Amino acid sequence: MINKYEFGIPFETDAVVKQIKKASGIPKGVQINCDNGFSFKCKIDSDTIVYGLGQSIGGINKRNHLYSSFCSDDPSHTEEKQSLYGAHNFIIIHNPSDSKSDRAFFFDYPGKISFDIGYSKIDEIYIYAERSDIALYEILPELEENKNPLINIVYQFRKLIGQSYIAPLWAFGFMQSRWGYKTEADIRNVYESYKKENIPLDSICLDIDYMKDFKDFTVDKDRFPELKKFSDDLKTKGIRLVPIIDAGVKIEDGYDVYEEGVENNYFCKKQNGENFVAGVWPGKTHFPDFMQKQVRHWFGQKYKILTDMGIEGFWNDMNEPAIFYSEDGLSEVVEALKKMDTTNLDINSFFQFKDNVYKISNSIDDYKRFYHQCVQNNKSVAVNHYDIHNLYGFNMTKSAGEELASIRKGKRTLLFSRASYIGMHRYGGIWTGDNASWWSHLALEIKMMPSLNMCGFIYSGADIGGFGCNSNRELLLRWLAFGIFTPLMRNHSALGTRNQECYQFENTIDFKAIIEVRYRLIPYLYSEYIKACVNSTLMFKPLSFVFTEDSRCLEIEDQLILGDEVMICPVCNENAKGRVVYLPEDMIQVRFKADGTIEQQEVKKGDIYINVPLNEVVFFIRKNHIVPIVNACENTDSLDYSTIALLGDVNGTNSYLLYKDDGVTTEIDMTSNIVELK
Ligand code: GLC
Repeated sequence: MINKYEFGIPFETDAVVKQIKKASGIPKGVQINCDNGFSFKCKIDSDTIVYGLGQSIGGINKRNHLYSSFCSDDPSHTEEKQSLYGAHNFIIIHNPSDSKSDRAFFFDYPGKISFDIGYSKIDEIYIYAERSDIALYEILPELEENKNPLINIVYQFRKLIGQSYIAPLWAFGFMQSRWGYKTEADIRNVYESYKKENIPLDSICLDIDYMKDFKDFTVDKDRFPELKKFSDDLKTKGIRLVPIIDAGVKIEDGYDVYEEGVENNYFCKKQNGENFVAGVWPGKTHFPDFMQKQVRHWFGQKYKILTDMGIEGFWNDMNEPAIFYSEDGLSEVVEALKKMDTTNLDINSFFQFKDNVYKISNSIDDYKRFYHQCVQNNKSVAVNHYDIHNLYGFNMTKSAGEELASIRKGKRTLLFSRASYIGMHRYGGIWTGDNASWWSHLALEIKMMPSLNMCGFIYSGADIGGFGCNSNRELLLRWLAFGIFTPLMRNHSALGTRNQECYQFENTIDFKAIIEVRYRLIPYLYSEYIKACVNSTLMFKPLSFVFTEDSRCLEIEDQLILGDEVMICPVCNENAKGRVVYLPEDMIQVRFKADGTIEQQEVKKGDIYINVPLNEVVFFIRKNHIVPIVNACENTDSLDYSTIALLGDVNGTNSYLLYKDDGVTTEIDMTSNIVELK
């Protein structure tokens, strides 16, 4: 059951797809105050677990921390950070001792909103925002037929926000990326190096250097003289190119996207009516006002320039939007610095000087300097960007998603974004932004996956190996051994860091062994992915969502249930030869060995230590469940479903419902595309 409460005049964000009648009053046991902004308080018991919040730092259990939904371009994902790139305002309050009283809340509010989950007071959730215009959804479990309250809550929420975006099958192949591939020759070298080492690969990303001076929808002819021919040629080899599109449009006379945008008033404006100027990769840019339907149509149609060159996938970046500096902000800072006596800086004036410079990027002042033209209650109104900041990346990706659906009629396009808000999950996936080559970020990704799934983001994954800092062989291998399970499996790294393509390291055969396991599992992973999207379920679940009577599972944050069949337990500690795994029930341990053979053995419930060499993958299959695999192959085009074999509890009575289709058409038929395997 869902109750909707409204306070003030909520902004129509387009997060939900179901009309729910407004209830009167407020949710039971909650204190709400709208006198000075919005505040929500409720008590939690010492054993209460709080799930949700999608892309955020912290555990699967969100307790003890402060989080803030404010899409942020911040590459330093350290433990104390409150905001990352996504704004996913959904929490589930789980009472293990009385799960019938579990409930969830979705705060549909497009501005900055903070979540104090037992941080200020151990027994209180306190949520607050600057404005009191908010739509609040309370989701209570439907308890009939002994439904699992947590899974039922997620199901109801996902039905409320609409079906998750469905990626093409090839997007389940391994993707190589790096900011720094500058030319066709660089890209060809990536393909050839993978080929030489016999490591499977499906796609290569084009970062900003493929563009002419970082201008969206242009191709640098010196670097990529014939992109169409190149992309067609690579496709015959099973490789697809995935170019990046940035939010800011370069200001440059003669550049059609810029000129059309100016002429038609498609860019975000300042209060005085001038187009807002922000500095990003291309230098000075304007931001398309994606809140306007005609702007979404205009910008989205531009993707055709690249699809006409054979492109079938994109990543949308810098769409928080990231602002290195604004023209106005920069002049204010320069003025302020000029006024300072820099000949004799004392401790205070020195830090003041430094802060002035430091706060230039992504500053709140800049977000307050520009406006969107929005339709609200059927009326066009100017809205300050700051108040609806979290909707920008969402609407950029909606623009691409809607128009690509018409450009490539009937065909799926790969699309993933950096910034997001709930609702965007209907148009594209996300990657989790500029992480670092740190072991803690591998662990963080494991925790983030189920939280993202709760919020509708199923096609997702992190930059494997880490984006910032220098990766190393062991970290990359361990990260890949987790990444083989995530829908988006992309190795991506930043300019200036150590090269981290698999072929850069010794004994590439180990990388081949791990990535081949991915390809062997694709029929299963793809099938579970489609089921999660269509049936509004989680592809990755915390153990506690499944083993509801087992209190140990409430604490486990480094093992996940994949689909209904598999328990994964990645190794995420440096120098570890293996790890301790908790088995809530007897299971079958599956070990993919480096030589391609598979060992299976029954293991008893309880704690066990598993040895996991760097070139092996170990996971568990639940009793009474089976998992299909196929032969290893070099890319998804050569996946051979006729080689299906079954792992796990194969005894003729257990079966697996495999979803299988052509991987490209948009129609998903859950009846005729299901095959029962026994
Ligand atoms: C941003 C993106 C990163 C990309 C870089 C250059 O930092 O998050 O993935 O490589 O910009 O385009």
